[in-house]
Amino acid sequence: MNTLETIYSRRNIKSFKSDPIEMEQLSKWLQAGTMAPNHKMTEPWEVYVVGPETREKLNHKTDFFHAPVVLAILSKHGKTEVETVENALATACFVQNFNLAAWEEGVGTFWCSMGNAQKNRDILGISDEYDVIGVFGVGYPEEINQPKERTSIEEKIKHLP
Ligand SMILES: Cc1cc2nc3c(=O)[nH]c(=O)nc-3n(C[C@H](O)[C@H](O)[C@H](O)COP(=O)(O)O)c2cc1C
Repeated sequence: MNTLETIYSRRNIKSFKSDPIEMEQLSKWLQAGTMAPNHKMTEPWEVYVVGPETREKLNHKTDFFHAPVVLAILSKHGKTEVETVENALATACFVQNFNLAAWEEGVGTFWCSMGNAQKNRDILGISDEYDVIGVFGVGYPEEINQPKERTSIEEKIKHLP
């Protein structure tokens, strides 16, 4: 797949096969994440590989669609509010690099925003200097949804004088 094919074919996955994902593969895609743009080279991301005990405590209603791997991806706060926002933006770029690198090898992710709720922060052991950008099910898709239609970018472009 070339870059555009990877981008256009990626979907948020809600049905996974039980086939395992090796830590080596995961590391490769996460390492691709680290090439994300990040202002002042803050490298604000941290990744927690969620084990079975913690996963059960998170008690997600579908158990992350039975994905073989669950990750929590965190973003560190900056010294100022602006830096904290920039760090979260950089971590979102990290996530998308990771998503696309995995997708190119046939592996999908389910992005779940539950992680920042206080109850789940406590379960994950998140300290005050971090935001949880997402909790992710990762695995080989059982099913790939049809694309969700997007508004044409023409409707979002404004030409300034
Ligand atoms: C910050 C963020 C949080 C998200 N949280 C959830 C979530 O809690 N549950 C969910 O089903 N999808 C979640 N998603 C995934 C979106 O619902 C999904 O990307 C969107 O429906 C478009 O589908 P696609 O990614 O397959 O194109 C989240 C995506 C982002 C960027």
